[in-house]
Amino acid sequence: MLKNNIQDALNAQISLEASSSATYLSMATWCDRQGLSGCAAFFYAQSDEERMHMLKIVHYINDMDGLAIIPPVDKPASEFESIQIIFKMVYEQEKHVTDSINRLMTLSQEGHDHATTVFLQWYVGEQREEEALVREILDKIRLIGDGSQSLYYIDKELERINKVRAAAEAAGADAGAEAKA
Ligand code: FEO
Repeated sequence: MLKNNIQDALNAQISLEASSSATYLSMATWCDRQGLSGCAAFFYAQSDEERMHMLKIVHYINDMDGLAIIPPVDKPASEFESIQIIFKMVYEQEKHVTDSINRLMTLSQEGHDHATTVFLQWYVGEQREEEALVREILDKIRLIGDGSQSLYYIDKELERINKVRAAAEAAGADAGAEAKA
């Protein structure tokens, strides 16, 4: 059974993940409209991933015989200034999510809620990876610069990153299948 303050904080995290998913979906459609297909594919996948983060918490609360609340989601922005600014916004959003996970972790530790502490460990690792990835993209964008072909090269870089992520995920799935065999 979850303590009320932990359940409330987990439900707030559901809301944050749902909001990230909607924002990244809106960014994906904006990229599509600009012809940035590599960036669009990145954000469609990222939006799915945030939904998965949200669902994991919903299932966890249910497993703990609690009450998961599915939140309304604020309408995300549909227009953005540039792809460079989008990635800066994503970095700020991910840092905000990391702070929220860290606060949740502190709450679970202070409440001696070991099941929630163990559950949240996955999110701590996931946030470290997500922040590192967005920092890497921002570094690449800075190196590519503002030349006339910069959007072309940024999009190519995102295509490369999408392929690396897809291969890593496929390898992880294979490893998982082997582990179950
Ligand atoms: Fe689920 Fe990117 O935070």
